[in-house]
Amino acid sequence: MIGRVRELGSQGSPTISRQRFGTTKSGTSVDEYHLSSGRGVSASIITYGGIIRAISVPDRHGNSADIVLGFDSLAQYETRHPYFGTITGRYANRIARGSFELDGTRHTLATNNPPNHLHGGHEGFDRAVWSARTESRADSVALVLSHLSPDGDQGYPGAVAVEVTYTVSALNTLRIDYVATSDKATPINLTSHSYFNLAGHDSGDVLRQKVQIFADQYVPVDATLIPTGALLPVAGTAFDFRQPRMIGARISEVAPGYDHTFVLQELAGLKRAAVAWDPGSGRALEVVTSEPGVQFYTGNFLDGSQAGKGGALYQRYAGFCLETQHFPDSVNQPSFPSTILRPGDVYRQSTLLKFGIHDYDS
Ligand code: GLA
Repeated sequence: MIGRVRELGSQGSPTISRQRFGTTKSGTSVDEYHLSSGRGVSASIITYGGIIRAISVPDRHGNSADIVLGFDSLAQYETRHPYFGTITGRYANRIARGSFELDGTRHTLATNNPPNHLHGGHEGFDRAVWSARTESRADSVALVLSHLSPDGDQGYPGAVAVEVTYTVSALNTLRIDYVATSDKATPINLTSHSYFNLAGHDSGDVLRQKVQIFADQYVPVDATLIPTGALLPVAGTAFDFRQPRMIGARISEVAPGYDHTFVLQELAGLKRAAVAWDPGSGRALEVVTSEPGVQFYTGNFLDGSQAGKGGALYQRYAGFCLETQHFPDSVNQPSFPSTILRPGDVYRQSTLLKFGIHDYDS
């Protein structure tokens, strides 16, 4: 039964509410929405960066904890931070040397993670204030965020209209649907950048939490974290998470930690990407996605330098990310699945996070 997530109990209906979160330095008002399943799980999302600021999940005894890293104030999110919970775009992860050629034209992007471009540049989707509307149905509530990125934004061609919908259901799922269109051909690769710690955001490192990733191959990278272009088998290596393993079991072999894309066994369609759980509390997370890859990142660059929620100091390995996305630097890697969106086409991706209890190996 390894890898199964048991349903949380209780009866109730989903609810959504809004409160003021703060005002940006440039005077824009930011709201926080609270989406509750009515059955144990809830998520708090702010319109700045579309950031998931908190996710509350009960343990096997019914005690809730906030399982994502983040901050208490808007001012902290406005400083440079490790993309805690952000919508990441236009292009999640790296583009080599901030340069790519498309239809015969070379485009130059900011090298904000020298020598490379990272997560959309200096002012990516993670720093935009998104417009919001809500939807309520009998068995789910949704927050629909939209943003218009102008032609030339951060060096990217085309005006891109993007909509990200967060839906919390009575099945204790948080679904993220991404839709985008562009008036010129342009690369796009969106993800959600939550750092999970299933024992609680302030509980120390995640090295004893377990992860299973449904990938036979991973994407090896160079010293600047750009793919070499190869796909390598995980079999017998520190990247072999086909069976559940403690995150820390072989992490020392991949110093400073995991920061790699795993190639999902099925590239197309909605399928399981990963399962993770904390043997101590029983809290479990299952990730289902339409994307071909998942970036498994173990918070290698966290250094406790910014006070998190409640003053928590997030040190290296304080959280792990399972960022469902296309492969890094696909714009410069002809053999990787394409990330180019053309006018008239619609970019659509979905990722579903299912929360529950896993108590087969407590
Ligand atoms: C992603 C990258 C990491 C790092 C973090 C943000 O997960 O793969 O290398 O840049 O984002 O700190």
